[in-house]
Amino acid sequence: MRTYRLALIGFGNVGQGLATILRDQGQMIADKHGAEYRIVAVNTGRHGSIYNPEGFDPGMLLAAYEETQRIDTVPAPNIGWDVPQVIYESNADVIVELTSSDLLSGEPAAGYIRAALRQDRHVVTTNKGPIALFYPELSAAAAERGVMLGVEGTVMGGTPLLRVGRELLTTAGISRVQGILNGTTNYILTRMADGESYKSALKEAQEKGYAEANPIADVDGYDAAVKLVILSNLLLGVPLQMSNVEREGIRDLSSKDIVRAQKVGEVWKMVGWVERTPEMVRASVKPIRLPAAHPLASVNGATNAVTFVTKLLGDVTIVGPGAGRVETGYAVLSDLLEINRRMI
Ligand code: HSE
Repeated sequence: MRTYRLALIGFGNVGQGLATILRDQGQMIADKHGAEYRIVAVNTGRHGSIYNPEGFDPGMLLAAYEETQRIDTVPAPNIGWDVPQVIYESNADVIVELTSSDLLSGEPAAGYIRAALRQDRHVVTTNKGPIALFYPELSAAAAERGVMLGVEGTVMGGTPLLRVGRELLTTAGISRVQGILNGTTNYILTRMADGESYKSALKEAQEKGYAEANPIADVDGYDAAVKLVILSNLLLGVPLQMSNVEREGIRDLSSKDIVRAQKVGEVWKMVGWVERTPEMVRASVKPIRLPAAHPLASVNGATNAVTFVTKLLGDVTIVGPGAGRVETGYAVLSDLLEINRRMI
């Protein structure tokens, strides 16, 4: 049995999702994969920080957080450590970087990831900003140190999209990636089509843990645009920047627009695509009207759907949850299992 000590930097939706999986499925994971994942540190900005080199019971972390909204109500030998202390002084093998970070600057996540890699720690992150901006630099640093940088949760949550694309489809010649890449806006549009108001649909998406800390990132299309940048950089091999993505959000769509489309058998969906041609790469995300028979028209709620347009296989589509606590926690788990596979 291999034991991996995890330091969670951030304990929001994704951190709690991962703790829930480890609480409920930890034994099954150990039996199936021969790997035990032990949370030794949890660091949060406003809810306390704890460190115990022996590890914490994930169930206790979740119960304490739910009851007190703090993490330092769990008994721990070390309380109040800051992030540098966790990165430099803890015994963690993996820094699970889940801070609330700015999509456009990638901070503070980018700085934490760099520091952790320099300390020879594996890093798993679900933060999109640093990966969209600095992936070549960060993955080179990880390779140089012989550690892994896991980024599966940056696009489509726990639905295996990046790994499938990178490991199984790039040889098929991907020329275009397109689909529904933001769960929050798809949830809002779905609920509005059911007659819900924009405002209460957004509130529901926030309560369900789909939305970004600042939901402007979702509704104005930044989140989907950052994901297109990641897809372009990782799967098409073409460096793209946010400023290259044509972007339009859903805030100008009214309930009337939705009903008008429904009357003629159409639905509004926020669709993103990135395409490589011999000369250039182009990318766009915006709400468009689709006929009800279109494959994306029936993708509802927080579900995402992404189609790879390939030379050898034609279209390959992956449909699955793109947001959510446990769903994104599962993406972290899949990277943790990948670290274990590489160690065997
Ligand atoms: N806010 C994002 C979404 C979370 O709604 O898709 C997953 O990246």
